[in-house]
Amino acid sequence: MSAEEQVAVVIGGASGIGWATAQLMAGRGETVVIADLDSDAADARAAALGATATAHQVDVTDGAGMRTLFDAVLDRHGAIGTVVDCAGISRPGTIADLSLDDWKATVDVCLTGAFLTVKEAARTVRDGGSVVLVASLNGRQPGVGMSAYCSAKAGVLMLTEVAAMELAPRVRVNAVNPGFVHTPLTYGATLVPGLVEEYLENTPLGRAGTPEDVAQTIGFLTSDAAGWMTGSAVDLNGGAHTMRYPDIVRRVSEMTTGS
Ligand SMILES: NC(=O)c1ccc[n+]([C@@H]2O[C@H](COP(=O)([O-])OP(=O)(O)OC[C@H]3O[C@@H](n4cnc5c(N)ncnc54)[C@H](O)[C@@H]3O)[C@@H](O)[C@H]2O)c1
Repeated sequence: MSAEEQVAVVIGGASGIGWATAQLMAGRGETVVIADLDSDAADARAAALGATATAHQVDVTDGAGMRTLFDAVLDRHGAIGTVVDCAGISRPGTIADLSLDDWKATVDVCLTGAFLTVKEAARTVRDGGSVVLVASLNGRQPGVGMSAYCSAKAGVLMLTEVAAMELAPRVRVNAVNPGFVHTPLTYGATLVPGLVEEYLENTPLGRAGTPEDVAQTIGFLTSDAAGWMTGSAVDLNGGAHTMRYPDIVRRVSEMTTGS
């Protein structure tokens, strides 16, 4: 199937990594569906992409809503070639302090959302299509104060492998593990003195990522060039997975107590 006939659904496509991915796919001629909790942002992004793009509001944690989204895309376009789940949130806090609500919210968006993405993709993506789940460096590298996020992302990595087995050989399922990328999700971290610097000290290539860095890898994984890849997770983090993650809790504590 040519790129022009491809329909790509990008969940969490209204911001950051998802938006860069949506632009990359539109740029290679695909019809892009931007699905996001933030309907105003999704509408604006779809309008910016041009006539073939559409926006849908969806909560990635809502099974019925996700079913409605995929049914609507099938009704409109007849086939889905690519699904990318970029929806994510992070609620930091040590295990002793993190509320159960914050734990559940993070696991729900990051892991249950990925499960529902694969569940819908399994019944709607055409033969030869593919799914990419955005996991994280934190799926394999622990960070103090990040129990919910790290656990959810580690779950996404295992989900990717199980999904790859279950959907093969019809549909490929892969993941990406970005390190620190400047997006609205990480803006708060940039306000903590020393935190990004500590991250970069532990990054052999010495820089944070851009949403476009991640989109390029997602673009590869969803292309025919990756036709023999499934169940894989690609690390892209400037080599940070070889080092250690900053201690966010210590940095925030220093910032608030001044010591
Ligand atoms: N930025 C980083 O450093 C980084 C690193 C590793 C992994 N990631 C992962 O990359 C993905 C994209 O993150 P980003 O940095 O681009 O963040 P972002 O905040 O810029 O974008 C996330 C998008 O997800 C949407 N979203 C949030 N909750 C949702 C829900 N319940 N249903 C549907 N949409 C929802 C938001 O509205 C937003 O548009 C996330 O899974 C994140 O965990 C980010």
